[in-house]
Formats: sequence, structure tokens, C-alpha cells
Amino acid sequence: MTATRISGTAHAESLRAEIGLGVANLKASHGVTPGLAVVLVGEDPASQVYVRNKIKQTEAIGMRSIHHLLPAETSAAELLAVIDQLNTDPTIHGILVQLPLPAHLDPTVVIETIDPAKDVDGFHTHNVGLLWTEGAGFVPCTPLGCLHLLHSVRRDLAGLHAVVVGRSNIVGRPMAALLLNASCTVTIAHSKTQGLPDLCRSADILVAAVGRPQMIQGDWIKPGAIVLDVGINRIQAPNGTTRLVGDVDFEAALAIAGAITPVPGGPGPMTIACLLANTLEAAKRSVSK
Ligand code: GUN
Repeated sequence: MTATRISGTAHAESLRAEIGLGVANLKASHGVTPGLAVVLVGEDPASQVYVRNKIKQTEAIGMRSIHHLLPAETSAAELLAVIDQLNTDPTIHGILVQLPLPAHLDPTVVIETIDPAKDVDGFHTHNVGLLWTEGAGFVPCTPLGCLHLLHSVRRDLAGLHAVVVGRSNIVGRPMAALLLNASCTVTIAHSKTQGLPDLCRSADILVAAVGRPQMIQGDWIKPGAIVLDVGINRIQAPNGTTRLVGDVDFEAALAIAGAITPVPGGPGPMTIACLLANTLEAAKRSVSK
């Protein structure tokens, strides 16, 4: 049997259409245009691509987009001053500081400076705490996108064993919290976990977020499992050409899993769509305060 391919591209498109309607409604009902500020420090090429995409999609959906592209030498005081100014700007509802930051800037200090009501990344400890206590904070965009994709193939996740491979603050930990909130039995695996293949084989839902190309092999997957591959790794073929692959050996997994996301075109496109959803939500909350 071949697994169902879960298209993040298609789901992101329909989510964006829904958000576009929400943006138009908010403008019509309250005269408010959701505003997103994106801050990039330095010239990391991958971050530049992500930020350009975020700006483009924010504008395309009818939101206000502003950006601060700051030099790599920007001091902590200068960056915090930019964030303070955005915190008090009533036309800005969401603030995103692209990670990773240059080594001299402490991401924790930077994230904690963002007003939690504008923290559309869901990285501030206020929002992290709300997520782990089933409160109504902002949820990090990549795991939120993964949850949408999971629900597209299975509405009720209660009682399923979910294994999340990876414990980052951006994906692994918030993904585990979301799955726990959906009444899954959750295991978080990481680089020190022993017996990873057997553990993966016990997963009804397997989320791979480790950043190691094709690490998860076909025979690590339980027949019929739902596999979400968050990895985006560029690999080089012997002839020198490069291509993007996930953390899962996709071709092998396709024959065993029940449903699986491809790379590219899986959780990736959902991340920006969820950022826009969080920004719309932040704008809505600002008018109902
Ligand atoms: N770097 C990689 N993913 C993300 C993300 O979701 N948000 C931010 N701010 N930086 C990132």
C-alpha cells in the first residue's frame, strides 16, 4: 500500500484564503489592518530567503508588512530599542525576530523583550507557559502547521502514541505540547535517546525534526503511521547537483506509512500560513481588548 501524501502546499493555500477573508472582515468591521513586523539581524542566506517569503506573503494577503534589516554588528541595546518601539506601535500586531541571531545576541533576552500579545512566533515564556497549560496563547508556527496537517488525515488523535524526534524550542517541545493537548501519549526523543528505531516503530504519529537528512529509515516506521517530516536539508548528489530532502527516507517510508508529508511541500509552507493566522488573531485580540 502507498501512503497518502499530505500536501502542505495545498493546505497552506486554503488556510491563506481563509485568513484573507478574516483580514478583509477586520478591515470592514473595525478599520484595522493587521500589521506584522519582521526583524532580521545579519545576512544569513537561509534567513534572508525565509524573511523575503514572509514579507511577500504578508503583503499578498492584505496585511501591513514592515521590516527591519539590521547589520550583523547591531548591539543588543540597539535591537531591544527596535523591539520596544514596535511594542508600542499600535499599527503593529505581530513582531517576529528571525532566528538564529548572531552569536553576540542572546535570543532569550531578545524574545523576552517582545510584548507577549504581539509574540506571533509563540516563543515568549508567557506563551510557552500558556501552551503547556492549555491556555489561549500564541503557538509556534511550524508545530501549529503540523497539527493542521495531522487533523487533515485524522480528526481524533486521542490515545495515539506520538513520537517527536527533536527537542528544539521552535519545533520539538511545542509539538509535544500540542500533541499532549490533543490527548496523545507523547514521547520526545533526542540525540541521547537509546533504541530510537524501536521507539519510532511504536509511533502511531511520528514527527521528525532533527535536521539530519533521511535519518529515519523506512523500517523504523510502523505500518499505517502518520509521518510528519519537518526537516529541510540540502544534499549533494555525486554529480554535484543538490536537492532538498527531509529527515525521513521518503521513498522507503511511502510504502509503509499510512500518510506522510513530502519535502519540499510538507510542513514548510504551513509555517508562514500559520504566522499569518497568528498575526490576524493578534490583531483581532487588540480590537476586543
Ligand atoms: N528560524 C527558523 N524557524 C523560525 C521561526 O519559526 N521563527 C523565527 N522567528 N525564526 C525561525
